[in-house]
Amino acid sequence: MDAIVIKGNGPMKGVTHASGAKNAALPILASSLLAEGEHLYRNVPDLADVSTMLKVLRTMGCEADWSAEKHEVHIRVPKQVLPEAPYELVKTMRASVLVLGPLAARHGRARVSMPGGCAIGARPIDQHLKGLKALGAQIELTEGYVEAKAERLIGARLGFDLITVTGTENVMMAAALAKGRTLIENAAREPEIEELARVLNKMGAKISGAGTDLISIEGVDGLKPVDHAIIPDRIEAGTLLVAAAITGGDVLVKDAVPEHLEALIFKLREAGCTVTPEGGGIRCRGPARVKAIDIKTQEHPGFPTDMQAQVMALMTTAEGASVITENIFENRYMHVAELRRMGADITVDGAVAVVRGQPKLSGAPVMATDLRASASLVLAGLRAEGKTTVGRVYHLDRGYEHLERKLMSLGADIQRVKG
Ligand code: EPU
Repeated sequence: MDAIVIKGNGPMKGVTHASGAKNAALPILASSLLAEGEHLYRNVPDLADVSTMLKVLRTMGCEADWSAEKHEVHIRVPKQVLPEAPYELVKTMRASVLVLGPLAARHGRARVSMPGGCAIGARPIDQHLKGLKALGAQIELTEGYVEAKAERLIGARLGFDLITVTGTENVMMAAALAKGRTLIENAAREPEIEELARVLNKMGAKISGAGTDLISIEGVDGLKPVDHAIIPDRIEAGTLLVAAAITGGDVLVKDAVPEHLEALIFKLREAGCTVTPEGGGIRCRGPARVKAIDIKTQEHPGFPTDMQAQVMALMTTAEGASVITENIFENRYMHVAELRRMGADITVDGAVAVVRGQPKLSGAPVMATDLRASASLVLAGLRAEGKTTVGRVYHLDRGYEHLERKLMSLGADIQRVKG
């Protein structure tokens, strides 16, 4: 298994860029199932999760050509697909469940393995199913699979009991081809939801309100294939900004969209960083040592849970004590024990972590069980004295496009070691 070896060597400096957004690419690729024909997606990030979603589509009979260097994916969707996502693929990536809505809507039938829990929480999909039922789908759970059936879905007014990103996406895709009007109340407001609505509207859907908590969808009889360039990844961009902050560096992340990262930018400034929209992206200059800040994760536009681990790494060497509250996932502190191995002083009580900033961290062999936790360990390694070896790099490869190359271009002493 590959590892990443980092020797802390001072400030990150220079210019890098944000790749295409993983969490926009995954629903968009799944949405291709809504229209027969050839779709072209640009700015698709070169990630293991993208590869998994293409496998899911291929098992259904779609053809997918991926040029990772050009960041382009061509998908040909046949008239009839095999509407099934098998356990072997869903267990490697929960976002495979995003095919459920499109399959139920266009093919009248879907059989999708029920995702289990994962390292960061139980993550049920009851709200996805509640939404599809409201549109008239019959849902059954058999042999670990969700089976959805419908002649044609019918628009309805529905409200989620809690805010769910992929749940909103699944129901929005399903409603695009339903008969009549759907109103989704308590919808997620993430930029990736707006992006999916943009793509669906290009395909001929009639969606308004995406980006607010009330989305209105006027169902249409058919959709057409699309040519679309995916928005930049706000979480990857945020991680690179924290690389500047944690090393007292000066980094410009081109293509990062300030409006997508307001909560993080606000917090980085509070910590003493100078953050400015600049050069078609965001520039972050970090002080020698940041000040402690408190964060509470919330749905967008609140502070993103996907940046919690990285900001916790930043807080490990801050001046003062920081209180971090994780409100979205019940088990998203897997990085804490590993950061402690590097000398961090962190205590956790339920959803609340207290981080007492230390003057320094010390490099160590560490590993993590999820994507953002792995990123936080890489960031800590940039700041630590000596050598940090981050194991289980496949977690990073799921969601960061060549992170080590980007950090190397900013001056990091970092390399991937094949194992
Ligand atoms: N939830 C339910 N029932 C549901 C759906 C969600 O109880 O039917 C709960 C979850 O267990 C969780 C909360 O609601 O406690 C929010 O979950 P949500 O459904 O919003 O998460 P998701 O759609 O599964 C997406 C991202 C995650 C990101 C979360 C929160 C994708 C493919 N994944 O997951 O990204 O953390 O939203 O913003 O968009 C990552 O990129 O590292 C990642 C985990």
